[in-house]
Amino acid sequence: MSPAIEQNVDLTKLNTFKVTAKAKEFTTIKAEMELLQLADYLAQYPEQKFLIIGGGSDVLFSEDYDGLVIHNCLYGIEPVGEDDDFYYVRAASGEDWHSFILRTLDANKPGLENLALIPGTVGGAPIQNIGAYGLEVAERIHSVEYFDLKTRQKKALSNEECDFGYRTSIFKKPEMKDAYITGVVFKLPKKWEPVINYKELREELQNCHAPALYPTDIYSAVVAIRKRKLPEPRKLGNAGSFFKNPILSKEDFFTLQERAPSVVAYPMAGGRYKVSAAWLIDSAGLKGIRMGDVGVYEKQPLIIVNYGQAYGEDIVAMAQDIRLRVKNYFGVKLESEVVIV
Ligand code: EPU
Repeated sequence: MSPAIEQNVDLTKLNTFKVTAKAKEFTTIKAEMELLQLADYLAQYPEQKFLIIGGGSDVLFSEDYDGLVIHNCLYGIEPVGEDDDFYYVRAASGEDWHSFILRTLDANKPGLENLALIPGTVGGAPIQNIGAYGLEVAERIHSVEYFDLKTRQKKALSNEECDFGYRTSIFKKPEMKDAYITGVVFKLPKKWEPVINYKELREELQNCHAPALYPTDIYSAVVAIRKRKLPEPRKLGNAGSFFKNPILSKEDFFTLQERAPSVVAYPMAGGRYKVSAAWLIDSAGLKGIRMGDVGVYEKQPLIIVNYGQAYGEDIVAMAQDIRLRVKNYFGVKLESEVVIV
């Protein structure tokens, strides 16, 4: 049996940038069993390109998609065990990320609260190893399950095998292009401790006068900061940080520092430095600029927003312009975090 395929489907509601684009073909996956049919279909049309989307929060359609868009709608959350140190919870890849965090907090299994309000789905979280306010999701992942659309096998990768790095994982590599992530098993610490090494989060928590910090305090503080600084995709199309914070070698960083003594950067393991892309864009004078319906968000210059009817290509052009100007100003290359298709 082949999956139900629709033609010429509008993707405006399936990308948080809210750009208008169409998929030549479109299908929805609601149960893991349907992946076998999907694999059959793809085997029948090997030249067909395909794209799996969850919440559409990390893709930018620069034009209509000339292939098959697969909308992942696998749902389900369940506890899958515990040991002395952790509760293990499995979430299917189509679950909304923020709602999943709320469920774990409700179940008294905290550990993900620093990552509240990040748009997207559970399945997207490991791909780019989402992170915010001092925590990367890799620190809470036990394993990632996927279905290989080529070999038709179901597999699981341990945390180590996922090869997580700053906003990256093995799932970004070409050899994993046939991996359809079906679920993620999280390990949530039984001896919960607040993660408060991020300065802005600590400052926010100073208003909290309780004798001890609770997971919900962290949660509320993160939500408050994000609401202040980041545009809500429902109201203003965007995909969170458009660029990654560039990582420079010690030599390159010192060269940059000579040119820009007040540059904001954080030392990393191995002697390298993570430079604030927000600072670079801001200092290149680009914060708040606008071209037609595309702009650099005035409260957080890492974010490109669609003020109305922007086309994907307008956003790509703006990103290109930012990259060029930052390169000319500071000699630093910005890489996008958003996947441009
Ligand atoms: N800054 C400026 N001008 C501004 C704003 C910020 O110069 O207008 C400088 C400040 O010095 C500030 C620094 O940039 O201290 C860092 O800013 P912020 O704390 O907002 O963090 P970020 O590096 O811009 C990263 C993640 C965000 C995540 C926040 C909080 C990346 C690419 N972005 O942003 O993730 O929420 O830290 O942890 O790593 C995302 O990936 O989509 C995302 C939103």
